[in-house]
Amino acid sequence: MHLGARCDRVPALVVVCAVLTGSRSGQLVFLAVVAAYFTKLKWPDLQQPTAPKDVAAKALSAISSIGCPSCHLDQLQGDGTTARLAGQQREYLQKTMIEFRDRTRGNNPGMSDLMKAISPDDITAIAEYLAGLQFLVGSGWTR
Ligand code: HEC
Repeated sequence: MHLGARCDRVPALVVVCAVLTGSRSGQLVFLAVVAAYFTKLKWPDLQQPTAPKDVAAKALSAISSIGCPSCHLDQLQGDGTTARLAGQQREYLQKTMIEFRDRTRGNNPGMSDLMKAISPDDITAIAEYLAGLQFLVGSGWTR
């Protein structure tokens, strides 16, 4: 029997089908399953060093001038479709903020405008500061 026909009738096959057939509804179910899986994982401690005081001060000044917590929440732990920042990989944070700034990353023009309002030096300090934060929902600050 043709796999596409089975995909509509056998719910247990829907994830496999999504990958094999690329049907839109199958893909959405696949993404929901993957999202549910990642949501349940505990945020890892990547053992990144806490930023030195001068770097933290520079970062906090830029963070408060822009008001990042108004969207990314008080502990910068994110929520829903607003990304978590605390404890993210430093290299990733740096790269993606620079990409927002030069609009290489174009999926959120609002974030690009905000990154334009701060300097690349601020971005470097923010990336180092955020990487060193380790806030776990349910446990609070662990370091
Ligand atoms: C008006 C709300 C808002 C404000 C203010 C804001 N952000 Fe964001 N930010 C978002 C949203 C929404 C996303 C998710 C963008 C997407 O992928 O669609 C995001 C994404 C990011 C990302 C990428 C995260 C990832 O995992 O890819 C970083 C880094 C980031 N923001 C840093 C900051 C910093 C630092 C500030 C303050 C200087 C800030 N944001 C202020 C809404 C905001």
